[in-house]
Amino acid sequence: MTNESDATTSTDVDWDARAASFDDEPDHGLRAPDVRRAWAERLRGWLPGRAADVLDLGCGTGSLSLLAAEQGHRVTGVDRSSNMVALARAKLAGRDAVFLVGDAAEPPVGEERFDVVLVRHVLWALPDPGRALRHWRELLRPGGRLVLIEGVCGTVTPAGIPADRLTALLAPLAGQVRVDRLSDDALLWGRAVDDERYAVVATV
Ligand SMILES: C[S@@+](CC[C@H](N)C(=O)[O-])C[C@H]1O[C@@H](n2cnc3c(N)ncnc32)[C@H](O)[C@@H]1O
Repeated sequence: MTNESDATTSTDVDWDARAASFDDEPDHGLRAPDVRRAWAERLRGWLPGRAADVLDLGCGTGSLSLLAAEQGHRVTGVDRSSNMVALARAKLAGRDAVFLVGDAAEPPVGEERFDVVLVRHVLWALPDPGRALRHWRELLRPGGRLVLIEGVCGTVTPAGIPADRLTALLAPLAGQVRVDRLSDDALLWGRAVDDERYAVVATV
């Protein structure tokens, strides 16, 4: 997740300009083995136990896409920033993965359907999160799931989407909704955090 100063301006961020240094944050690049392992273990618990088709929206440099691919899943990543997509393509070269430039709210995937829509730190910045969620549900196969990793970043100028607001938006769309609280797991972030961080797994 972005730091305090980023949190105030995330909707206006020039992601193309930030792409080259994006992975410098521990939870972005997942370069430290313990941080990487922590995310891999969480992801294994959120994704299906069999090989699945995963749509990673706002995929950034593809760090979560790579973990999913390493766990045997087929990945389609979408990001509006062409620089982010170029880095994701390089990161997953030779893997069962494709990356597209496009809007996460209306990904350019045509009639293709997925077992998982995976979104980390993107939903809150979309102009109409409820509309995006309704569209994402339509992109899922029967029994598919939304895996949404979000939070409220920063304590001085908080920015984000609280878990109770997200679960309220999901209530009419999903059958089972599970919330995993992530704030206490410092390994995920590479440091202790005191703001709200969570993952929602919503099965349709
Ligand atoms: C905080 S980064 C998260 C990247 C990645 N999901 C991760 O967790 O490492 C936000 C990403 O969302 C992308 N993004 C923001 N708004 C978007 C939109 N409307 N459509 C597609 N991508 C978007 C940005 O380009 C950036 O790569």
